[in-house]
Amino acid sequence: MSKVTVVGAGNVGATVANVLAHKDLVNEVVLLDIKGDLARGKALDSWQQAPIDYYSTSLIGTEDYEKTANSDIVVITAGIPRKPGMSRDDLISTNAKIVSTVTESIMKYSSNPIIIVVSNPLDVMTYAAYKVSELDSSRVFGMAGILDTARYRAFLATELNVSPKDIQAVLMGGHGDTMVPLPRYTTVSGIPVLEMIDEAKLDAIVERTKKGGGELVKLMGTSAWYAPGAAAAQMVESILRDENRIFPCCARLTGQYGLNDMYLGVPVKLGKSGITQLLELQLNDDEMRLLHNSAEHVREVMETFEGMAIV
Ligand code: NAI
Ligand code: 2OP
Repeated sequence: MSKVTVVGAGNVGATVANVLAHKDLVNEVVLLDIKGDLARGKALDSWQQAPIDYYSTSLIGTEDYEKTANSDIVVITAGIPRKPGMSRDDLISTNAKIVSTVTESIMKYSSNPIIIVVSNPLDVMTYAAYKVSELDSSRVFGMAGILDTARYRAFLATELNVSPKDIQAVLMGGHGDTMVPLPRYTTVSGIPVLEMIDEAKLDAIVERTKKGGGELVKLMGTSAWYAPGAAAAQMVESILRDENRIFPCCARLTGQYGLNDMYLGVPVKLGKSGITQLLELQLNDDEMRLLHNSAEHVREVMETFEGMAIV
């Protein structure tokens, strides 16, 4: 019997709930939003899809935290998304308060949930949920790396005219334009990517990946939801099935890569207790420099958060 709560029934939250229902691995998904009718409507719509797509996961929409009681996993997508011209960091003053309040409310009804944060600015919002929840950091982490890596893999698949299924890659760092796609850890069915593409083209794909979120905001006037929702659902699946899959996730560093007491994207294993292992790759000097540059940027946003004195 497993129960997952998704907070925020907007574009991303509703997609997480819907993709999870299709996986049919959770008994109950609670979709919570301050706009209770929106949550109720989207949950009901997803439930009415069950007879068509054959799943049994029940979906409940609510604004009432009591209904989230004893959740195994909570996915936090509440908050405002960015509009054209905004960076993810511009969202902090609004979203820091929302994520902190949501985390506090969740902890009143679930004593030891696993929390997956999606709200932006992601690395700092994950840190906020960790601080407020007082959970072990193996149970509080964020979704960004799967999405950013998926964008990189999708661009490569198009360029190489191969199936996206055959592209494996690692991407690290903060969820922002300083993220670090790692060509040295990118393969196409085991073949190093640099044997299949020239460096200039790969560089262009790396640059497009870093600005991948912004590309979609420009096209749609708000940020993406299909790939982000599917990415968060994939994390839930690895946890509930205890698969120990390796994904880049936003995790708390305690000295790894020379970085301490901050959240940043790194490869981790996800199993039934959350992060079961944080992998420390043998980065070369250039890769390490890029990672530290990204960490520096996240630290600046962390300082803004600390200045808000919420926790
Ligand atoms: P949206 O505007 O469609 O939905 C957000 C929902 O949160 C709204 O329905 C709103 O009513 C709800 N909400 C606001 N305050 C709340 C509160 N205190 N309690 C409960 N619900 C509350 O936005 P969308 O597109 O779903 O994005 C959500 C967040 O996820 C944004 O911050 C966005 O930047 C972020 N995001 C992060 C990604 C990542 O890779 N980590 C990818 C895509 C979006
Ligand atoms: C994205 O990368 C905005 O973080 C969101 O699509």
